[in-house]
Amino acid sequence: MRIRVAGGLGVFGRRVVPSLVRQGHTVFATTRSPTRVRALEQLDAHPIVADVLDDEAWDGATQRARPEVVLHLLTDLGTGDPTSNAHLRAVGTQSLVGAADRAGARVVAESISWVNPPSSAPADEATPLYLQAGEPRRTIAGVAALEAAVIGSHGVVLRCGQLYGPGTWFAREGRHGLAARAGSLVVPSAVASFVEADDAARAFVQALAWPSGLVNIVDDEPAGGREWGPAFAAAVGGTPPQVDDSNGIGRPVRNRAARQLGWDPSAASWREGFTQL
Ligand SMILES: NC(=O)c1ccc[n+]([C@@H]2O[C@H](COP(=O)([O-])OP(=O)(O)OC[C@H]3O[C@@H](n4cnc5c(N)ncnc54)[C@H](OP(=O)(O)O)[C@@H]3O)[C@@H](O)[C@H]2O)c1
Repeated sequence: MRIRVAGGLGVFGRRVVPSLVRQGHTVFATTRSPTRVRALEQLDAHPIVADVLDDEAWDGATQRARPEVVLHLLTDLGTGDPTSNAHLRAVGTQSLVGAADRAGARVVAESISWVNPPSSAPADEATPLYLQAGEPRRTIAGVAALEAAVIGSHGVVLRCGQLYGPGTWFAREGRHGLAARAGSLVVPSAVASFVEADDAARAFVQALAWPSGLVNIVDDEPAGGREWGPAFAAAVGGTPPQVDDSNGIGRPVRNRAARQLGWDPSAASWREGFTQL
């Protein structure tokens, strides 16, 4: 298959591109930076330099690649600024989906799992988004726009839990790992879900064959920071974190749909996954 990977060098792209190449697909992978082209070539992808916020240039590059599938693995989290990430999800996704539609390509997109109203009752893909949220309202609005655009064009959206593993914030040398070792890590008490980054990346490859819709890609054990925080800190050689109670109770999320589709994570729980960090 001809596959365009939007975001070839992000936390997912670096994992997904080599898997697709190994499976024999022709992969066109993007970066905004000419200095990163070589890194894409080293993954055996055909590099494309393009910014999704430049609608015309993005569309031209998409049409030239003639993809059958576009993987939307774009986030703007490098700076930690939620506003630019929400803008990318809303405006960038419009550009990406429009170009994919014109090329006749299907979209498989990355989203997040912490999007439902707080409750102790587990949420699944049919649970409405928490559109009335205070902060992070911008985040939820961006997610809502991304998901509406992708589902509206008959694509697949994978709502991933908090990623951990090499190259993520939840790694020994990642943002939270360094904070844990410096004794400055603060974790929310709110219930949330994790997923190991390689497990989540495998879901994107499998989703090429999945029907249109939302799918939660999370492990089997949602938990609050009082449980997972000390385990994470211990795993990276840090001290137990401070727990912040100001973010409500959170929401457990089910992964039944993903498991029924055949997704079988190697780390069924962060309890075992963190021990590999
Ligand atoms: N579910 C989760 O918990 C989750 C999900 C994703 C990320 N994260 C965290 O966020 C951290 C940073 O993520 P990341 O490494 O993936 O980096 P990132 O800075 O969020 O970038 C991700 C990808 O998006 C591309 N991109 C961003 N803006 C773009 C635009 N306007 N046009 C085209 N491409 C654009 C980047 O390409 P170029 O920079 O090459 O141009 C890159 O390939 C990770 O370490 C991870 O811990 C967490």
